[in-house]
Amino acid sequence: MAERLDARQWGDWWNKHSLTSFHGHFQNNYDGSLKQFWEERFANLPDNAAIVDLATGNGALALLAAEYSREHDKSFRITGIDYANIQPEALQQRHPLLEEIRFLVNTSMEATGLASASQDLIMSQFGFEYGDMPAASREVRRLLKPGGCFHAMIHHENSAILAQAREALAQIKRCDKSAVAETATALVKLQQRLAREGKLSAAEQQHAKQLHQALSHSLEKLRRYAQQLKDPSHVRMFTQSIMLLFDRRNARSITPEQRLQTIQRLMAENQSYKQRMKDLRSAAYSPADFRKLEKNLKQLGFSEPSVQPQEYAGQHFCHTISACLNNSDLPL
Ligand SMILES: C[S@@+](CC[C@H](N)C(=O)[O-])C[C@H]1O[C@@H](n2cnc3c(N)ncnc32)[C@H](O)[C@@H]1O
Repeated sequence: MAERLDARQWGDWWNKHSLTSFHGHFQNNYDGSLKQFWEERFANLPDNAAIVDLATGNGALALLAAEYSREHDKSFRITGIDYANIQPEALQQRHPLLEEIRFLVNTSMEATGLASASQDLIMSQFGFEYGDMPAASREVRRLLKPGGCFHAMIHHENSAILAQAREALAQIKRCDKSAVAETATALVKLQQRLAREGKLSAAEQQHAKQLHQALSHSLEKLRRYAQQLKDPSHVRMFTQSIMLLFDRRNARSITPEQRLQTIQRLMAENQSYKQRMKDLRSAAYSPADFRKLEKNLKQLGFSEPSVQPQEYAGQHFCHTISACLNNSDLPL
C-alpha cells in the first residue's frame, strides 16, 4: 500500500480539473466500447433508479449515467462517492449535468453512510480496486436492493494501460538517472550569478564549461535511448523541454529565473507522474485478485459474478466484474 496516493494527493490531482484520471485522454468523457458497456447497464434500470458511483473522482462515470438519464428520460438519482475532497463543481461549465449528481466527498467506499438496500446499481470505473476488497464488497452488498447489480471496470495487471504505465515508469527512471535536471539546474545557477554579478571567476567558467559538456552528453544519451523505444513520448517531452531552455536562439528571451522555474516544474511533474503510475501499478488486480473478488461476492450472496476482459480501441483495456442479487435476496 506504500505506493498508493492518499486522499489529499488525489484531491490535488482532481483539483487540476481533469474529468478522468487519464491525463490528456478522454477529454469529453469515456467513449467507444467503454461508454457502450455502461449504457447497456443503464438501459436495464427502471425509471428513478438510484445509482452510486464508487471512487467517482471528478464524476466521469456518474456523468455518463446523468447524460443517459437525460437522453432517455429516466430520472436517475445519482450519487458519486470519493474519499478525496473533490470539487467537480469546477467542471460544471464544461459539463453542466454534473450539477444533477449528488457528490459525497471525504467518504470512503467501505463505509458510505448510505441507507441499506437503497440502490439499484453500484458502479465503479477504475475505483473499486483502490479500496479494501472485502470491506468494499460488503458495503456494495449492503447498499443494493434485492435484484440490484454491481458492475465495475477494474485495472488488470496485464492490460495495455498497465503496459504503458510500466513503460512510462521506465522512461522517468531513465530521465532521473541521467541527472539532466540536476546538471541543468547547476548550470542555470551559474548563469544567474553571471547575470547578477556581470562576470564569473576562472574556476566558475571552467565549471560551467564542464556542466555544459555533461548536459550535452546526457541529453545525447537520452536521445539515443528514445530512438530504441516504440513510444518515447515521455523521454522526448523531457529532453525537448530542457533543450529548448538552452537553445541559443532563446538566450535573450528566457531569463535564468524562468529557466530554473521550468526545470523545477519538469522535475515536479516527473515525480507526480511517477507516483501516479506506481499507484496504478499497485491498485491493478492480478488474476488471483479477480478470483478472490468473485469468491467474496458469491459468499455475500451474489448468484453468478462474471469477470470479462474489456477491450478499447483493439487493446485489452481492463476487466469488468458484473454481479447481481436475486429479487428474493434479503437486505443484509
Ligand atoms: C483512478 S481514480 C478513479 C476516478 C474515476 N472513477 C474515473 O473514472 O475518472 C481512483 C479514485 O479512487 C478514490 N479512492 C481511493 N480509495 C478510496 C476509498 N477507499 N474510498 C473512496 N474513494 C477512494 C481516489 O480518491 C480516486 O479519486
